[in-house]
Amino acid sequence: MIIAIDGPAGSGKSTVACILAARLKFRYIETGSMYRAVAWKAQQQGIRPEDRDKVAAVAQTIAIEFRPGVDHQQVWVEGQEITAQLKTEIIGSLAASAAAIPEVRKVLTEKQRAMGREGNVVMDGRDIGTVVFPNAEKKFFLVADPVERARRRYDEMKAAQPDLDLEQVVRQVKQRDYEDENRAVSPLKPAEDSILLDTTQLKIEEVVERMMRAIQPVSNV
Ligand code: DC
Repeated sequence: MIIAIDGPAGSGKSTVACILAARLKFRYIETGSMYRAVAWKAQQQGIRPEDRDKVAAVAQTIAIEFRPGVDHQQVWVEGQEITAQLKTEIIGSLAASAAAIPEVRKVLTEKQRAMGREGNVVMDGRDIGTVVFPNAEKKFFLVADPVERARRRYDEMKAAQPDLDLEQVVRQVKQRDYEDENRAVSPLKPAEDSILLDTTQLKIEEVVERMMRAIQPVSNV
């Protein structure tokens, strides 16, 4: 069974997807980390984001692995754990550029489908319900007010970046929305058969409960 969760940055996807996967005893695959890992490796190799062929070559050869951690999932690339390095705003911005390259999307989509074929998974991203698994048994599309989403990102990042300004994060979130919704390939949009959840006013647990109620009739879990 495949559960697809899509939505914009800061909508709460990865937090609820991780909890949901643990409840269902499914694997959790955060596809945003895969785009971030490609961006990270390209940066390590000194490749500029506009060298699209070189970034695509990184996507073709990179070995990305998800491993369970104590309180979060770890991302490993070729023997190195890079989970924390992927969280920065710079890697987020480079990942958005990498995600607009059709060849990068093609390669990562294939990797995601192969992971999905291994068994029950909860997969989150931007195009899981529309492109990667259009036949997923359950699809959710999470939305939230951009200022609330920026506030969530700000709370996550302010310990590492004390001089961070909320207004700046609001601008970044809106810019990322624009890039994700307007790219030519696989833009962010809800699948027609997805369940729309607005998380602006909801606690994480409430979102998970609503998802569990939607899933139960299909899975008998
Ligand atoms: O969710 P995130 O911020 O970690 O995603 C990083 C970038 O990758 C973001 O610009 C959206 C893009 N992405 C995508 O295009 N398709 C996915 N399935 C997942 C992420």
